[in-house]
Amino acid sequence: MALTGLLESSLKLILFGGKGGVGKTTCASSAGLYLANNNKNALLISADPAHSLSDSLGKAIGDGVKQIEGVDKLSAIEISAEKALSRFKIEYEDELRRLLDTSTYLDGEDIDSVLALPIPGIDEVMGFKTIVDFIEEGKFDKYIVDTAPTGHALRLLTFPELLDDWIKVMAKMRWKYRYMVTSFAGKYKPDSADDFLMSMKKTVKKIEGLLRGQSRCEFIMVTIPEDMAIKETERMIKSLDQYGMKVKQMVINHVIPEQADCPFCQGRREEQDEYIGQIREKFSDLKITIVLLQPHEIKGIDALKNIGSMVFAA
Ligand SMILES: Nc1ncnc2c1ncn2[C@@H]1O[C@H](COP(=O)(O)OP(=O)(O)OP(=O)(O)O)[C@@H](O)[C@H]1O
Ligand SMILES: [Mg+2]
Repeated sequence: MALTGLLESSLKLILFGGKGGVGKTTCASSAGLYLANNNKNALLISADPAHSLSDSLGKAIGDGVKQIEGVDKLSAIEISAEKALSRFKIEYEDELRRLLDTSTYLDGEDIDSVLALPIPGIDEVMGFKTIVDFIEEGKFDKYIVDTAPTGHALRLLTFPELLDDWIKVMAKMRWKYRYMVTSFAGKYKPDSADDFLMSMKKTVKKIEGLLRGQSRCEFIMVTIPEDMAIKETERMIKSLDQYGMKVKQMVINHVIPEQADCPFCQGRREEQDEYIGQIREKFSDLKITIVLLQPHEIKGIDALKNIGSMVFAA
């Protein structure tokens, strides 16, 4: 069986995720090529801080959208979460300053130190906002995300909740300020800090809607037939489910061909068969695609296209 449904026009965001080293980048790159070859304008996005799209495609990419030479409809970007965060801070510095100034007892110097503090997870949050902004912009038909291994990808997906909590705290502090202004001045006129909180709230809603929209977004799980990978896959599917994301398809990569005639390969395949059986049993409601271990690593456009022709179907 192959991965299907990727050409559906309602499907915009396709994320590949799983344990370290199982083939996420390979699947994401070959999905990008498959979609581009099927006349879809595709943007391949790396959200893994240890970017490897450039290595996989054999083309330099970097943190700006780049059209992939020789593939008309494919572009790619390796998101720099750090840069996304500093852009955010520059864009909203006035609003953030105003929020802290009116809602806390901090003075100018204290506010400077708060703004300079690293907030755990905020760079990932901003990395995700970059993805959402791309989708909003709507220049491409498909956005394919190569995520970092499990833990990081899950943190990325908790973004809406994280940001929502932050907005709630800020809004609460603002209410106190608003109450004070109203008591002293009689009436309160919303300012740019209020607009900022509102626009952040809208971003959260948009992301939640996007991630939970079954037809607009699909998370494809990549795994290998090994005990530890299966356990991690199971935990990840459960966590995704809690965020309202239902995984429907899974790739089992690195499967040794059945007809291999060396005893070593046969031994490994027998062991793999055990695990493939376990996967089919545990995830009986998922569509499973087997990807065979290739004699060479999968690097460069031709190798990725080749594997794509086996992995994807309309
Ligand atoms: N079916 C396959 N046959 C042969 N080599 C493969 C296969 N799938 C992936 N590879 C190779 O395995 C290595 C790891 O693959 P890849 O980088 O796609 O994994 P990843 O899950 O993205 O890893 P990371 O968690 O480090 O980001 C690469 O060198 C890739 O070329
Ligand atoms: Mg990778």
